[in-house]
Amino acid sequence: MEHEITDPVGTGRSRILITGAAGQLGRALQESFADGDVIALAHADWDVTLPPPPFAEPPSLVLHAAAWTDVDGAEDDPQGAAAVNVGGTRHAAELGVPLVYYSTDYVFDGAKREPYVETDPPHPLSAYGRTKLHGEGAAGEQAWIVRSSGLFGPTGKNFVTTMLRLGRDREEVAVVDDQRSAPTYVGHLAAATRALVERPSGVWHLAAAGDCTWAEFAEAIFEEAGLPARVRRISSAELGRSAARPPYSVLRTEKGAPELPHWRDGLRECLQRLG
Ligand SMILES: NC(=O)c1ccc[n+]([C@@H]2O[C@H](COP(=O)([O-])OP(=O)(O)OC[C@H]3O[C@@H](n4cnc5c(N)ncnc54)[C@H](OP(=O)(O)O)[C@@H]3O)[C@@H](O)[C@H]2O)c1
Repeated sequence: MEHEITDPVGTGRSRILITGAAGQLGRALQESFADGDVIALAHADWDVTLPPPPFAEPPSLVLHAAAWTDVDGAEDDPQGAAAVNVGGTRHAAELGVPLVYYSTDYVFDGAKREPYVETDPPHPLSAYGRTKLHGEGAAGEQAWIVRSSGLFGPTGKNFVTTMLRLGRDREEVAVVDDQRSAPTYVGHLAAATRALVERPSGVWHLAAAGDCTWAEFAEAIFEEAGLPARVRRISSAELGRSAARPPYSVLRTEKGAPELPHWRDGLRECLQRLG
């Protein structure tokens, strides 16, 4: 299960391919690996539902950040989601080089109510979670399977950018208070990925330290951003989303994965980047 890669972070001999390079994690990975020889392919450059394009010089490491991430949309089109998350991952694995596959806390059902470690059996509640779990299998035995949770960053549409928009427009924002996880800053996940590729492949949990509900996270966002908006705590049932989410999906490592800073530090860094 271990790779013979002598220079995984691209200090001269490695070429690092980033898929989904325009996504929030894809952008953070480009920054973290910027000192290497990076090939950054956005959706328009390589639709991963199709076989890989020819490379004049093939990559030696693939950071596979391309994914169908619309959790509710996957309920309506599970095959479309699978084409990207399973088929796309199979195509990335076909390159035949070491691969980092990003997976999710939504592979768990949340019944455990204490942090999930790498050996806990997955049991996804949603179509998205199922496609991501099958994607783990499609990544192959030689891949690093990186499970993380609640990604946010300065680019794209995510919980932080959405709350900042709502918090500026409204006095009160309704947010679910019955789903607990560890919102993770993409810059921290990208930095941890750099450290992880020095370790053996396999399943690894890489998420922010600490945990909170989405309502608690929203309160922290308003507080750190100096917005006067209030959070009204609601249940997932009240929100009525089509996909079921785990009520508890805090991820921890039992095998010494690189540690990430606390989610509040990630939030502060993200807000600083947003100016
Ligand atoms: N977001 C989260 O809370 C979260 C939590 C845990 C794990 N993850 C995992 O972390 C990884 C990165 O997520 P993220 O938050 O960075 O998502 P993101 O911002 O939605 O980025 C995903 C990227 O994949 C691209 N993409 C979609 N379909 C594609 C296709 N067929 N071919 C090529 N590219 C395609 C998207 O491009 P378009 O927008 O142009 O379609 C987008 O740029 C994913 O594997 C995700 O499952 C995410």
